[in-house]
Amino acid sequence: MASVGTILSQLFPPKPRWSVDNIPDLTGKVAIVTGGNVGIGKATCKHLLLKGCTVWLAARSKAKAEEAIAELKQETGQEALFLALDLNDLRAIKESAENFKNQSTALHILICNAGVMVPPIEQLTSQGYDLQFGVNALGHFLLIQHLLPSLKTTSSSVSETRIVWVSSSVQYYFRGPPVNYDNLTDTPSRKRLGTQQLYCQSKFITVMLGYHLAKVLAEDQSSNVICIVLDPGNIKTDLQRYHSPSLLRSIMNSVILYPVSKGVLSQLYAATDPAAAQYNGKYLRPWARLGEPHFKTKDEAEQQKMWDYCMGSIREYE
Ligand SMILES: NC(=O)c1ccc[n+]([C@@H]2O[C@H](COP(=O)([O-])OP(=O)(O)OC[C@H]3O[C@@H](n4cnc5c(N)ncnc54)[C@H](OP(=O)(O)O)[C@@H]3O)[C@@H](O)[C@H]2O)c1
Repeated sequence: MASVGTILSQLFPPKPRWSVDNIPDLTGKVAIVTGGNVGIGKATCKHLLLKGCTVWLAARSKAKAEEAIAELKQETGQEALFLALDLNDLRAIKESAENFKNQSTALHILICNAGVMVPPIEQLTSQGYDLQFGVNALGHFLLIQHLLPSLKTTSSSVSETRIVWVSSSVQYYFRGPPVNYDNLTDTPSRKRLGTQQLYCQSKFITVMLGYHLAKVLAEDQSSNVICIVLDPGNIKTDLQRYHSPSLLRSIMNSVILYPVSKGVLSQLYAATDPAAAQYNGKYLRPWARLGEPHFKTKDEAEQQKMWDYCMGSIREYE
């Protein structure tokens, strides 16, 4: 659990010191943004496009993606490319990655932004995992494994390539550590944990996996891929779609939710600013500031255990 100071500074972050004006020219760079069709992901695509980046907007709905691509073209004059990606299904993720690799040899930036929050408890992934763990953590884990060869090869011609993995401040509120692996599949104990805690769990696991990935990548002397995990801040988007509306919630939201223009800062900083490379294997909090995640996410034995579990879960989809 975080200190009161950490929680307050996350709820009411100081004025940003970094702005989208600081994004360098990205001509010649290639990025994938998962969940690029709405919310923070779509706005992230916009700023990458404005700086000349080739952007693959990864989304599960072709219709929604095409709508977003058309709007982004109007706003930026640049056309993002559609990558079909359903993180709910490990088999489909392999196909998406193959699709991308057949069309692009380079990949400089992978932003694992897509996410689902507090869906009905009955919802599971196609392979029977808890939906929030499956989409927010395991699906991205598999996508990363498939795209690492592209990120590694590309890193030989630039200073580094980057994976940015979007977590959340809710990782501080996960009551569970160490993770109970029974809660990752459809069990009575998962149902007892409840959908709010399952969201916290998925974002806690995201931090564990991101930290471990950074270490694994650092040991690989043949390439230079870095990984930064972050919390974008409390942002007004469709993420709250499963919350039932209430007066108290709408009053609270009007106080603690910030516009998407703020929500893009941490991930655009992590993905593009040369200075952000120093934060390999670190956690950023809003707005693009170095932070500290829940101390238990840093337990190396637990990280290894989770890594091995995820490796075992994706084996037949590699
Ligand atoms: N908003 C906040 O306050 C906040 C705070 C902390 C962290 N975050 C994190 O920030 C990220 C972006 O969230 P947001 O606020 O921009 O939410 P959002 O507007 O709801 O966007 C979520 C995106 O994820 C996509 N997605 C959901 N399930 C998917 C699946 N199975 N396969 C592929 N894509 C899927 C959605 O696609 P569809 O449009 O098809 O559903 C959408 O594009 C998420 O990881 C979220 O957890 C947000």
